[in-house]
Amino acid sequence: MPKTRPKPQGQITRGKTQPNRLRRVDAFILLYAPDLLRRQDGPFRDAWFVDLGFGAHPVTTLETAERLRRSAPELRILGVDIDPERVARAQPQADARTHFRCGGFNLPLAEGERVRLIRAFNVLRQYPPQAVRPAWEQMARAVPLGGLLLEGTSTPSGALWVMNVLRRWDGDVPWRQEALVFSTNFHPGFDPIAFQAVLPKNYIHRIQPGESIADFFAAWKAARAATYGYRSLGRRQWFGAAARQLAARGWDVDTRRRWINRGYLLWRNPPP
Ligand SMILES: C[S@@+](CC[C@H](N)C(=O)[O-])C[C@H]1O[C@@H](n2cnc3c(N)ncnc32)[C@H](O)[C@@H]1O
Repeated sequence: MPKTRPKPQGQITRGKTQPNRLRRVDAFILLYAPDLLRRQDGPFRDAWFVDLGFGAHPVTTLETAERLRRSAPELRILGVDIDPERVARAQPQADARTHFRCGGFNLPLAEGERVRLIRAFNVLRQYPPQAVRPAWEQMARAVPLGGLLLEGTSTPSGALWVMNVLRRWDGDVPWRQEALVFSTNFHPGFDPIAFQAVLPKNYIHRIQPGESIADFFAAWKAARAATYGYRSLGRRQWFGAAARQLAARGWDVDTRRRWINRGYLLWRNPPP
């Protein structure tokens, strides 16, 4: 690490977390980006998986390390938090491939270190909406083209969440929004409206006329109503039927069973 580190960008926020909260995020990553976890070519050689804003204790980082290394045994994982006390408490849990550092959206990296994927969960939700794009831009700096930023918000248990999937590219802005993912473990029932409470910060204040996210929810609600007959078959079937109905109405959602059966609805290329 450099001797004089830049001031961490951001602010200390509530640190609430809990075991298994991000279990379904890990499962999603293993399905969505297994090659990115393993690739060692060019700038991806030894590149970190960063868990930004791990919280009061590093339980989600450690769980993620354990789960992802079943598929990518060499994966190096860096837990980052802006609160130095939280980082100090996490240090005893570090090992050869799991490190903890204090830092902010301008990631605390040594010269030449690169990042393959950043997960930032339940972090930006505590910032004002205008902080989102600058934070995304700062996080992009150490991510090579092709890397990912997964930025989302969940319920305390992780039963429901919504996540931006952003791909590093060489466009005018550093990230291309590849998908918006809605995740449910089906326990809360099936109602699209329930996801509005866990929208990422860039969408939360935009459920209003003229906004594509509002149109999306209206269409999803209509699809739910049109497929009400599936309710008796179970929530999973109903969720899937509504997704197919959305697709039939022209929305670019992924209706493959690998996603739908597991409770993930991927809206591809949502308008920014
Ligand atoms: C609610 S906790 C989230 C814990 C965990 N990611 C989860 O989802 O359960 C948010 C954490 O993000 C940290 N945080 C806030 N802004 C940050 C920033 N700019 N850079 C790094 N960490 C930040 C806070 O200090 C806090 O510990």
